[in-house]
Amino acid sequence: MATGAPLAEVLRAAAAVWVRVRDGQSLDRALQDQALKHEVAAPIRAAVHAVSHDALRHCALIEALLPRLIARAPAPQVTGLLAAALSQLIVGAYRDHALVDQAVAAARSDRHLSAAAGFVNAVLRSFLRRRAVLVPQLLLDDATRLNVPRWWLQRVRREHPEHWERALACAVQPPALLLRVNRRRCDVDAYLARLRSEAVTARRVGPYAVRLDRPCPVQQIPGFTEGVVSVQDAGAQLAAPWLQADDGMRVLDACAAPGGKTGHLAELSDARIDAIELDPARAGLITDNLQRLGLAAPRIRILTADARDVASFWDGHPYQRMLVDAPCTASGIVRRHPDIPWLRREADVAQLTTLQAGLLDALWPLLAPAGRLLYVVCSVFREEADQQADSFLERHPDARLAPLPGTRHGWLQLLPTGADPVEPGQTVGLPTEHDGFFFALFEKV
Ligand SMILES: C[S@@+](CC[C@H](N)C(=O)[O-])C[C@H]1O[C@@H](n2cnc3c(N)ncnc32)[C@H](O)[C@@H]1O
Repeated sequence: MATGAPLAEVLRAAAAVWVRVRDGQSLDRALQDQALKHEVAAPIRAAVHAVSHDALRHCALIEALLPRLIARAPAPQVTGLLAAALSQLIVGAYRDHALVDQAVAAARSDRHLSAAAGFVNAVLRSFLRRRAVLVPQLLLDDATRLNVPRWWLQRVRREHPEHWERALACAVQPPALLLRVNRRRCDVDAYLARLRSEAVTARRVGPYAVRLDRPCPVQQIPGFTEGVVSVQDAGAQLAAPWLQADDGMRVLDACAAPGGKTGHLAELSDARIDAIELDPARAGLITDNLQRLGLAAPRIRILTADARDVASFWDGHPYQRMLVDAPCTASGIVRRHPDIPWLRREADVAQLTTLQAGLLDALWPLLAPAGRLLYVVCSVFREEADQQADSFLERHPDARLAPLPGTRHGWLQLLPTGADPVEPGQTVGLPTEHDGFFFALFEKV
């Protein structure tokens, strides 16, 4: 993480972010608030982002270490500073003693923490002395090694007995930056050539998916501001083509913000799209996305509504295609959002499953005969995925599974897969690197 940002300041800000996330706030929101509140300069912001992500990627290990290093839990801000500092000692981003000195300086510079400066010094030095024994010992526990709460580990192990370990291990790796090439503007080979000419190393990981070897802020991605590419995981890029919407079709995108899949649908055809989003602030992101892609009204309408309340947005004309990219636990995108396992409770799974079923049941009558509905969740939990699809089919005798284009299956569970070497020439089919997603394609008979 050697960004040149003043490390003590970075550790102090990351400590505050840790406290908020462990208090239940999302990491994105905590980082945003932190940056806004303190008007943090861009290089520091990037460094705080990196340290906070590192800390949450090692949350289980840090929380297992702390009670072994200290007799009694200190104030939350002190725990936050220890967590931020321990994460950097674990990932080895700095020389150990320089890091400890900076953590102590961070404590001294904050009136809430200054009294704990000696304590922080002692705890971190004790960690350095005992690290070689403590860390391997604690990592013998799968939940600590794979950085998830125990209920999460048990669920994934039970539901994916052959692949649980690979899927969870992938989720603790920092993610790659994956892009979708806008095929109205460019093809993948031409975009890769552009990247080469700008000395950016990248490779193809799916039909229209490109992986940048070195992640960078979006404004620095060649072609991003002109709408040549969008940031989108390669698994998420499967949804819009699988819906097979043609020009002129009426398409409902029921849970649309921030508009990643709306934009993709609009790139693929001149279908007429109604994009529904419950959260007005997030609905604004769809507009921004479409404007960047040069794909706006009149054929795309963005409506702020609860998609279950169909009377609030439906004009009575059936849709030929529907995308229901439902709210879910997001258990498939942990490598991008390492806070997720620490924010969720096991009871959330059943609650979200009920919400997803409510959306599907409310929207199904709006689909035309022979129309298709693609249900998507970025989850690896079966209750939200194949079990949700099965119970939908039981409730709706006029629904059947249609094969997902290019596959023999009506539904597909993708488990997170990391950077595997790609066969040269592999340009079709499933991407080689992606987050965890579930897809089911229903057809009305
Ligand atoms: C998984 S995200 C959608 C991602 C989006 N399709 C994309 O590709 O960028 C789910 C979205 O559904 C919205 N949502 C949740 N409940 C909803 C409801 N009852 N009606 C409409 N939107 C809802 C959430 O605010 C969230 O923005």
